[in-house]
Amino acid sequence: MLRRYSDRGLTMTSDNSIESTMHESRTFDPPESDGNEPWHCSSLEQYRALYRRSIDDPAGFWAEAAGELHWFKPWDKVLSYSPPDARWFAGGTTNLCYNCVDRHVEQGFGDQIGIIWEGEPIGSDGPEVRTLSYAELQQHTARFANVLRKHGVKKGDVVTLYMGMVPELAIAVLACARIGAVHSVIFGGFSSRAIADRVHDASSRIIVTCDGAWRRGKVVPLKDNVDEAIKMLDEVRVDSVIVCKRCENTVQWDATRDHWWNEQMESVDTDCPCEPIEAEDMSFLLYTSGSTGKPKGIIHTTGGYMVYTATTAKYVFNLIPDQNQVFWCTADIGWITGHSYILYGIMPNRVPTLMYEGAPNHPGPDRFWDIVERHKVTQFYTAPTAIRAFMKWGDEHPKKHDLSSLRVLGTVGEPINPEAWMWYHTNIGKEQCPIVDTYWQTETGGHMITPLPGATPTKPGSCTLPFFGIDAAIVDINGIEAGPNEGGLLVIRKPWPGMLRGIFGDRERFIETYWSTVKVDGEPVYTAGDGARRDEDGYFWIMGRIDDVINVSGHRLGTMEVESALVSHSAVVEAAVVGMPHEIKGTGIAAFCTLASGVGADNALRSQLCEHVASEIGAIAKPDVIRFTDALPKTRSGKIMRRLLRSIAAGETEVKQDTSTLEDFSVVAKLQGADES
Ligand code: PRX
Repeated sequence: MLRRYSDRGLTMTSDNSIESTMHESRTFDPPESDGNEPWHCSSLEQYRALYRRSIDDPAGFWAEAAGELHWFKPWDKVLSYSPPDARWFAGGTTNLCYNCVDRHVEQGFGDQIGIIWEGEPIGSDGPEVRTLSYAELQQHTARFANVLRKHGVKKGDVVTLYMGMVPELAIAVLACARIGAVHSVIFGGFSSRAIADRVHDASSRIIVTCDGAWRRGKVVPLKDNVDEAIKMLDEVRVDSVIVCKRCENTVQWDATRDHWWNEQMESVDTDCPCEPIEAEDMSFLLYTSGSTGKPKGIIHTTGGYMVYTATTAKYVFNLIPDQNQVFWCTADIGWITGHSYILYGIMPNRVPTLMYEGAPNHPGPDRFWDIVERHKVTQFYTAPTAIRAFMKWGDEHPKKHDLSSLRVLGTVGEPINPEAWMWYHTNIGKEQCPIVDTYWQTETGGHMITPLPGATPTKPGSCTLPFFGIDAAIVDINGIEAGPNEGGLLVIRKPWPGMLRGIFGDRERFIETYWSTVKVDGEPVYTAGDGARRDEDGYFWIMGRIDDVINVSGHRLGTMEVESALVSHSAVVEAAVVGMPHEIKGTGIAAFCTLASGVGADNALRSQLCEHVASEIGAIAKPDVIRFTDALPKTRSGKIMRRLLRSIAAGETEVKQDTSTLEDFSVVAKLQGADES
């Protein structure tokens, strides 16, 4: 079993201090450029010079980057900042859809491919593949923007998108951007309850969905989930549901509310110019988990987010138009990775972006490599959990395919263990492709700490050095910078264009979550919620979350969200959820539950509880292990001892931590002896 924490030499010594001992001595130099596709940044010296400039003169640096994109009206001021509030490019107007699509058409590249899409099912003629040129995307997004308008959507209204990975999802996202509507994309794996919570929080009155989504050969009933969610809403009325047909499943129909995508598209015309949008206007909301039970709607704006994602994508993946590059990010558009690096960051660089509908092992464990070979993918971006699954499935699967088109490999979402890094480097990159281990968050909009493929020597397991403009540091709780290899809190001391501007409807939580943990030189700084250290070369090593957030298969979950789901079941009186090491997922979910009297603690109940959590949140939140216990270990003041539960969940037989404040020692003994599901 993989032990992430101990692998990485991490010991949590108290809730706010982290000790780290790991040393990874392997270093891999970036390859030389082959001449045709020069690296945007080709040496460590060049990186350091550009980085220095971006920190010393952020306004000059970012104005230059913004100048590579289209603006209807130039900004008055690049940056004004009074922590925690930053304004980037204020006074300027631009449009995300224009920069992703229309600009290329107007510059004469309308016939070039913007999106390549591959469906999951494989028929007798192979998989279904659709390509969409920029000209086609312009027409489709304009039409769908008109559909939204027809349904009363105005600038600033929130449109909920709960769809599978189909081209219509990209079209709907870009159509919202076209008219300045705010999209809130909900990952298709979330449950009706999760949809209802998000629709309610955003007061969204229109939902775009599909009849179903293909996943591992089965249909996920998206429309049914939306119907259920709407039944759960009492304060918010959903006026329109637009349904894109993808599968052959039957759906319930409410003629007063439901509309087929295709019919709607035929009922409007293609004339809908991109609206000039204020740089600081909200572009989208994306809900993510935090340390309390309720997911928070992260607010991103238009100008700064656009400049930041386009610039990071350009440098980190070395995107160059007209070089037969094909960029593939395997994430779902329901996560920030898909927002920023399937659509918004990639498309302005005029490199085709590939969208794949389904699972990595359908119909066989080589599906991804088959896609890389057939589409001649040049940049491939995935998560460590997927890499660990590929390792387990066996080296023979990538070996069957010609992967020689690959130039840059990326990872994101969680720390990558050195074994997985080496496997990726050897079996997929054939020791030729630099690996960019990109550290960032929903809140940061784009990459924060990452190698640049032609410049940064890499070390397996380290996300290396900060991107331009990112003043990252490791500090203790008093804001004092840690020395080399000393663990501490990861903070960002200066604003950057892609940073979140708030939590929807909750200013207090925004300040408390990100801006109240530490001050540096008397000023609040952005606290990422991760523990990290810097080695003697200044390289960052992320050691994991320091709050009650866990990263399960690279998906972020709040332990309290899972706890609330468990206690909402009548059999459960109290629940505590912690992360545990997991071979494939990185972190698995361990739940400790006390039961109502008279309830039988058996495997049937365990399965019932797992299903219950899936219906409250989504299948990604199902516990891997459920332990039933008479009581939870608590301090005298009644706080659940989570650190202790973490070591029990990790299978440590001997409890090494200080338990002197434990209320009832027998609880620990029982938990250690308790059987697992
Ligand atoms: O703990 C860090 C981890 O994922 C968290 C952010 O999760 P989310 O907002 O869902 O965004 C994921 C995709 C950007 C971070 O706080 N994380 C993300 N990337 C890395 C990582 N941990 C280590 N290394 C990474 N490259």
